[in-house]
Amino acid sequence: MEDQTLFRTHGAGTLRPEHAEEKVILSGWVHRRRDLGGLIFIDVRDRSGIVQIVVHPEQADAFQVAETLRNEYVIRIEGKVVRRAEETVNPDLPTGEVEVIAWAIDILNTAQTPPFSPAEHKEIDEKMRLRYRYLDLRRSAMQNILILRHQVTQAIRRFLSEHDFVEVETPMLTKSTPEGARDFLVPSRLKPGSFYALPQSPQIYKQLLMVAGLERYFQVARCFRDEDLRADRQPEFTQIDIEMSFMPLHAFQDLIETMMQEVTAMVTGVHVPHPFPRISYTEAMDRYGSDKPDTRFGLEIVDVSETVKDSPFQVFRQAIATGGVVRLIRVPDGAGRISRKDVGALEETAKAHGAKGLAWLKIEGGTLSGPLAKFISEDELGRLREVAGVSDGDMLFFGADQKDVVRQALGAVRLALRDLLGLVFPGQFQFLWVTDFPLLEYDPTEKRYVAVHHPFTRPKEEDRHKLMTDPLSVRAEAYDLVLNGYEIGGGSLRIYRREEQDAMFRLLGLSEEEVAEKFGFFVEAFEYGAPPHGGIALGLDRIIAILAGRSNLRDVIAFPKTQSGTDLMMDAPGRVRPEQLAELGISVRTN
Ligand code: AMO
Ligand code: AMP
Repeated sequence: MEDQTLFRTHGAGTLRPEHAEEKVILSGWVHRRRDLGGLIFIDVRDRSGIVQIVVHPEQADAFQVAETLRNEYVIRIEGKVVRRAEETVNPDLPTGEVEVIAWAIDILNTAQTPPFSPAEHKEIDEKMRLRYRYLDLRRSAMQNILILRHQVTQAIRRFLSEHDFVEVETPMLTKSTPEGARDFLVPSRLKPGSFYALPQSPQIYKQLLMVAGLERYFQVARCFRDEDLRADRQPEFTQIDIEMSFMPLHAFQDLIETMMQEVTAMVTGVHVPHPFPRISYTEAMDRYGSDKPDTRFGLEIVDVSETVKDSPFQVFRQAIATGGVVRLIRVPDGAGRISRKDVGALEETAKAHGAKGLAWLKIEGGTLSGPLAKFISEDELGRLREVAGVSDGDMLFFGADQKDVVRQALGAVRLALRDLLGLVFPGQFQFLWVTDFPLLEYDPTEKRYVAVHHPFTRPKEEDRHKLMTDPLSVRAEAYDLVLNGYEIGGGSLRIYRREEQDAMFRLLGLSEEEVAEKFGFFVEAFEYGAPPHGGIALGLDRIIAILAGRSNLRDVIAFPKTQSGTDLMMDAPGRVRPEQLAELGISVRTN
């Protein structure tokens, strides 16, 4: 027997015909065991893959151990690689041309029967997967994603380092950073009654690093946001956070594009051309009803207000008379593809997004049908043909309301149509910059303006004069990066003069005292020579999920949280001991 502390000479998954006749030592898990009357076959699995082990009864010691093995036991094997006979080659396994004849097997550890086996291919309940995440992560598909994520992060680190960016770690125990979500708070023991906030982003720190003269910063930064979770949101997630001083915006965007091009090629093998298209927020909202449009397909929204302003259909006339719009989505050849039932579902979608209804029109063999049919004259149809390219076989969906409502509703209907019509785009990665976002929006519950991006974003120079008179019409030097209909990044040029930052806080309804208390240190820094700067943060989890074809962020995070923010494995969040609370000066109300 050889040195038992040597666990392996090869990875199980790396063995190939060229290793035939070599003595090998392997260590890993029992993936499967088959007792074939006299011979025992064991598939042994390690991170590199799986190889078949054969144990002959003549190897009495090894055979005896092999008979006791069960799934997921951890074992060490000594043996010899042999080529398999032609008829026993397994084409589904990279190691399928060889097997290992074992003469020694050691059990390094036993295992209970797992609640699900990494060898199973069937769908496993996600709760179970999360409860036993360490077993879920034994599956090669999951390991491959973690490895992919590692490779992407490495590539990004290398890319940014080569472009002279410096990685700096910023604190987790900090003060609130306004990114629009609720903070996670951490009570202070040394200062009872006081709380740290976990960072929603390193925004303030990275700007201070610019004031400090770092000029080019990045960080693979964990961010924390206590918001309502969806499939594309986690309460803690990772940003590739980047900031740069003296930056010409186009050169900066070019850099980000090159980086995303490299990452996409690395993960998918697909070459995406750049520069990426740019579209203004207004145009995105008008044409796609979304500020993160999926531009892999058409079905664009067309304004027909002018065409139908005298329509006998009361809903249209009234919408326009009250300052609203009428817009439509034309589904080419939709008449034959969309059923009454589908229409019902689409109407529900429109209503769920604020519309009062979803009028529709089918044009089939020259005849019109649908609730609008009796209201559309030959003349009107002629003009619709001109404006919206309507032709026979089409189906039209209309929204009539205030502009914002119609944008929202038809935007949602457009995506529902994509899914309904089964439009899929394998291997297509549509990057897109959305620019010229509004600087502010009005929050009716708080009765004040709030920053659309964040309060550090610079207004566009040409709109600056409207800041006091017509703040809602001021556009920001802000940009989002969109991929296949998901927002994968957001950034802006920043305010870097104290008086402008003060004015912005004032516009957002913060009093002088509040500014001093919350951001005093920050605006103070601007008095000591802050350079012009700007940056972006890319959502790493979303990028990996989209490129790896996963619809859920949980699949690309090693230990994710559920929709309700819990870690099912650790059962976090959890209760703490009364002494811990006492130490923190905290008492918990239980009603
Ligand atoms: P923003 O808030 O747009 O910008 O965030 C940047 C990107 O982070 C990703 N993201 C998320 N991913 C998963 N789960 C979440 N809960 C979540 N929230 C955001 C998105 C988003 O585009 N400080 C600014 C950046 C800057 O101005 O430089 C910021 O955080 O992909
Ligand atoms: P009603 O007049 O409520 O019977 O609606 C007639 C048709 O118009 C139905 O298909 C409704 O879905 C649709 N509809 C009603 N209000 C609107 C609206 N504001 N925009 C678009 N379609 C509407």
